[in-house]
Amino acid sequence: MTSVNEVRQTFIDFFDGKGHTPVASAPLVPRNDPTLLFNNAGMVPFKNVFTGAEKRDYARAVSSQKCVRAGGKHNDLDNVGYTARHHTFFEMLGNFSFGDYFKEEAIAYAWELLTKDYGLPKDKLTVTVYHEDEEAPVLWKKIAGLTDDRIIKIATSDNYWSMGDTGPCGPCSEIFFDHGDHVPGGPPGSPDEDGDRFIEIWNLVFMQFDQQTGGEKIALPKPSIDTGMGLERIAAVLQGKHDNYDTDMMRALIEASADASSVAADGDHAVSHRVIADHLRATSFLIADGVLPSNEGRGYVLRRIMRRAMRHAHIIGAKDPLMHRLVPALVTQMGQAYPELQRAQALVTETLKLEEERFRVTLDRGLKLLDDEVAQLGDAKTLAGEAAFKLYDTYGFPLDLTQDALRTKGIEVDTDGFDAAMARQKAEARAAWSGSGDAATEVIWLELRDEHGATEFLGYDTEVAEGQIVALLKDGELVDTLAAGDEGSVIVNQTPFYAESGGQMGDTGIMIGAEGVEFCVTDTAKRGGDLHVHVGKVAKGGLTTGGIVELRVDGERRSRLRANHSATHLLHEALRRVLGDHVTQKGSMVSQDRLRFDISHPRAITAEELAEVEVIVNSVVRDNSDVTTRLMTPDEAIEAGALALFGEKYGDEVRVLSMGHSGPQDRAGFFSTELCGGTHVRRLGDIALIKILSESAVSSGVRRIEALTGETARQYMASQEAKAKAAADALKTSIDDLPGRVAQLVEERKKLERELSEARKQAALASAGGGGGAAAPAVQEIAGIKVMARRLDGVPAKELRGLVDDGKKEIGSGVVAVVAIADGKAAVAVGVTDDLTSKLSAVDLVRAGSAALGGKGGGGRPDMAQAGGPDVDKADEALAAITSQVAEPASAA
Ligand code: ALA
Repeated sequence: MTSVNEVRQTFIDFFDGKGHTPVASAPLVPRNDPTLLFNNAGMVPFKNVFTGAEKRDYARAVSSQKCVRAGGKHNDLDNVGYTARHHTFFEMLGNFSFGDYFKEEAIAYAWELLTKDYGLPKDKLTVTVYHEDEEAPVLWKKIAGLTDDRIIKIATSDNYWSMGDTGPCGPCSEIFFDHGDHVPGGPPGSPDEDGDRFIEIWNLVFMQFDQQTGGEKIALPKPSIDTGMGLERIAAVLQGKHDNYDTDMMRALIEASADASSVAADGDHAVSHRVIADHLRATSFLIADGVLPSNEGRGYVLRRIMRRAMRHAHIIGAKDPLMHRLVPALVTQMGQAYPELQRAQALVTETLKLEEERFRVTLDRGLKLLDDEVAQLGDAKTLAGEAAFKLYDTYGFPLDLTQDALRTKGIEVDTDGFDAAMARQKAEARAAWSGSGDAATEVIWLELRDEHGATEFLGYDTEVAEGQIVALLKDGELVDTLAAGDEGSVIVNQTPFYAESGGQMGDTGIMIGAEGVEFCVTDTAKRGGDLHVHVGKVAKGGLTTGGIVELRVDGERRSRLRANHSATHLLHEALRRVLGDHVTQKGSMVSQDRLRFDISHPRAITAEELAEVEVIVNSVVRDNSDVTTRLMTPDEAIEAGALALFGEKYGDEVRVLSMGHSGPQDRAGFFSTELCGGTHVRRLGDIALIKILSESAVSSGVRRIEALTGETARQYMASQEAKAKAAADALKTSIDDLPGRVAQLVEERKKLERELSEARKQAALASAGGGGGAAAPAVQEIAGIKVMARRLDGVPAKELRGLVDDGKKEIGSGVVAVVAIADGKAAVAVGVTDDLTSKLSAVDLVRAGSAALGGKGGGGRPDMAQAGGPDVDKADEALAAITSQVAEPASAA
């Protein structure tokens, strides 16, 4: 048997051999179409290549594109499980020609692959063509030798394919496989075409036009080819099965579900197992592509699919959450073709587990309520919208889950009543806040939020995406347009721009609209809870509400922001390990060129501690492990060892970032685990280097670390090195010998200063005089006390003490007074030998001298005191004042 994986590979190899470039599947969330919920056809990623707006370096491509049809225009959710060929997730095989080959080759390739490589019998194939297409029937006859009765002309839109209301389109030709007359059903176009006998397997679209909004069609630059073949369908045909769910791949998933729940795959619960198998694929691939369950937009579609599967897990009586246990089986089946599935395995597993655990809490009670409501209906076949709304609002039952639950009973839901109940609840909520007296602009944000929902943030996975403008603001007021030169704010339905929060600055970049319109985004702010508001200026052209723009984040800047943000997580943990568990985050600032991280810590962090922190964080960086993101409840996250900000309000679900491995000290297997909504590096090696710059005090008990990463850190270190080199050059040494040389210089300088001071002193003494100006110090005897009085010029005040001591030694007993004039100031010092301190105080004497110098006070001890004064020409008077002061108490004695 040819496995599904082999069927896919054969297709890709076949077209590769015909000069087509194999292109990996684009993510399920379309980056190039803001009006589309999910990629739902193989051509979607190439939309702009068909119209000529985007150039690629190939003109032929082949792909197997992941598609989801649930929610939005193509919605197959309700049928899944009950039919043979409906899926929420499927793979579309396609070959594409961008203005290269056209109809003839497309038909020839398709025929060759189907009849040769896939080996389908020619007489089992029938085709349809668009009734106005004259060429296709001729080609089918020529290439495939089909007779007229097997080339059916169809006049409906079935054979005219368009992507949506706008975009590339053209007539198409579909290829059908005939299962044989033992299966009921007629050929396409016949009254019983919906039977199961003729199955459409491949659609060849002859792309010729670009459908415009106003209804006009303009010709594509060149006719092109888009084809789509459902992998599940062709695999079923090739495996001789009638039902896509009987292929090897779907069967493996169904059996995994049966094994995990111990409930037979076939029999009473066959539908539930099919639902679970299909929804497992859709939910896992959506999560792997960055969608996480939420109550709005894509996240809500995901939640609806998950909860529908979980109700079926409940129906088959699964005792414990089931879905997450099936992920390994899915990875075995599809992980090789889609490596993103392997990469996201942990995230997928935990997200499914969390959702199922939480939903099981209300599921039982909700189903009980539903049973009661149904019992009350009697013979009526419509459940009141109000009841369905209560199930939605209180028990978390998406509307389609309630509808699915009632399906087997033949009961419908009054959806108008449901919508009315929803509208009433919104109106009540609006009334509650609009009366609260919020500032006018705050009201605008809340109204916009209410009307358009949260901005969908695509920036965890991409830096470029298209968005549709939902509102424009100028000077705080809503406007319909922003013209060239206008400054204002732009809100779009989805954006890759991160809005400032959690310390990480908002993204900057550019928005590009049709005909060269450009809006420079200088900041992105968060308003009204979760609106991303792009602030900036129109550089070219004008923006209009409803228009579509391509949003491009400044990627270089964002890479730096990511590295700096991830670095704060590593620093946080390293600081805790070095300083202790009391360390908690008190704030942070992550910009493109530096990071700041504040922690609680009672004293300065030493240089050794900082060095240790730096060693730890850089060794985790070099570990270069993947950064893992998971979604959890705040409680679970904290149980998993996540660091959370105390007092911070977290939602029902939080993103949990785990990084690095370092050994036994790790919590739950990771170096760092934190709650965080910011953007982070994919692998720790992307940080490259963390350099701590400083630590300082912010307030009592709070220290601030500043640091750099990556290229900025390297530049900083290079500039430090250049400065060291300049210093070494100036000292004619190397950087290695610089510290020794500097220490030596400092020592030499001290020595020189000492010598200079000594020399100055000697020079001053040599030229100094006593009170009378004599060369030698005059010692006179006053009232039996020896008094040495000296005046010195050019001796600094700090030298006086030493001179007084010298004088005291010289005279043995008595008073030494020195007045020195230097640098425009006068200083006076007086010493009294110990034997006289009971009679005379140096402090009193110095005060007398200081007063003569125009100074005040003076301090010291009875044996030594010093003072100063401004009157440099009163040195002699000062000495005289001291001498007479000695005379007075002496004569009094
Ligand atoms: N784009 C075409 C389809 O989806 C092939 O059917």
